[in-house]
Amino acid sequence: MKLLVTGGAGYIGSHTVRALQKAGHTPIIVDNFSRGHRDSVPTDVLCIEMDIADSTLVEVMKEHEIEGVMHFAAHSQVGESMVNPSIYYDNNVVGSYRLIESARQAGVKHFVFSSTAAVYGEPEIVPIKEDAKLEPTNVYGRTKLMIEQMLSDYSKIYGMTYVALRYFNAAGADPSGEIGEDHTPETHLIPLVLDAALGKRPHITVFGTDYPTEDGTCVRDYIHVNDLASAHVLAMNYLHDGGESTVFNLGSGNGFSVKAIIETAKEVTGIDILVEYGDRRAGDPGTLIASSDKIKSVLGWNPVFSNVKDVLKDAWGWHQSHPNGYDDKK
Ligand code: UFG
Repeated sequence: MKLLVTGGAGYIGSHTVRALQKAGHTPIIVDNFSRGHRDSVPTDVLCIEMDIADSTLVEVMKEHEIEGVMHFAAHSQVGESMVNPSIYYDNNVVGSYRLIESARQAGVKHFVFSSTAAVYGEPEIVPIKEDAKLEPTNVYGRTKLMIEQMLSDYSKIYGMTYVALRYFNAAGADPSGEIGEDHTPETHLIPLVLDAALGKRPHITVFGTDYPTEDGTCVRDYIHVNDLASAHVLAMNYLHDGGESTVFNLGSGNGFSVKAIIETAKEVTGIDILVEYGDRRAGDPGTLIASSDKIKSVLGWNPVFSNVKDVLKDAWGWHQSHPNGYDDKK
């Protein structure tokens, strides 16, 4: 299939572009490079510098006879969304609306959307299933939920089928060491802990120690980015084969506290990382762990990197070879 991949130069997008190529598809990247990296784009992939809100995308989709869109391009930081919600509503909601509308006008049949566990808010039952209540505790989660609702309406009324993949915490890097996580500013736990291990930061600050969890710190479900990527390929193939619109969780099913991640990072790196304890970060739910039973049974998804140590090892490999992210390649 010829597939348009928005945000294909970003962290999860770049790993998925490679998975699509390996599966025999032809990805075409659309990225405005506000947060993506040119060096993450494979030399044999067409990459168009364009914003998702640009209405001329209709012509791009028609010209390349795009059958499906994979939509990664979004702002994705919980903390930032609570300080600067305007860019989340603009880029995520307005931008995605324009993209979905371009896809409709171009006659695109299928859409795979990067959604998030943040749509659930503070869950009542863990592991979280797809039919859990949807009450996001932060702006980021709310914007993603709005896009899911848009897709649901477009699917019911216009017939464009979609899969929304609700990611839990994406982490790790391709074991090749060629691509990995590089955000500016970095706000995610694992790269920050590894920055502290490298001495790029004096310490890691734990946000909150009074959550109702075993050790008082937040519990998250970390999933290897390549396992996320393989799920996208399965989701698009499912839609191509006539699968109906639906939503899947994507996580490992295992929860790790912030403290546990730091301890595992110490073990993997062999470095005694300095830890400080701070206040809660606004909008953070206490525990998020996925039930991924649905995607396993419907799509036959089978995560390869099942333990968090492997995730941290790959993240550490990338971090050591690229202490300044993609800037090290220039
Ligand atoms: N944390 C710290 N110190 C830090 C950074 C993070 O203690 O310096 C904590 C956070 O409070 C949170 C955990 O580490 O409890 C993980 O935080 P991240 O920022 O790495 O990830 P989030 O859980 O906030 O969000 C990530 C993605 C979202 C996605 C969510 C789903 O960024 O896009 O996972 O679980 F929605």
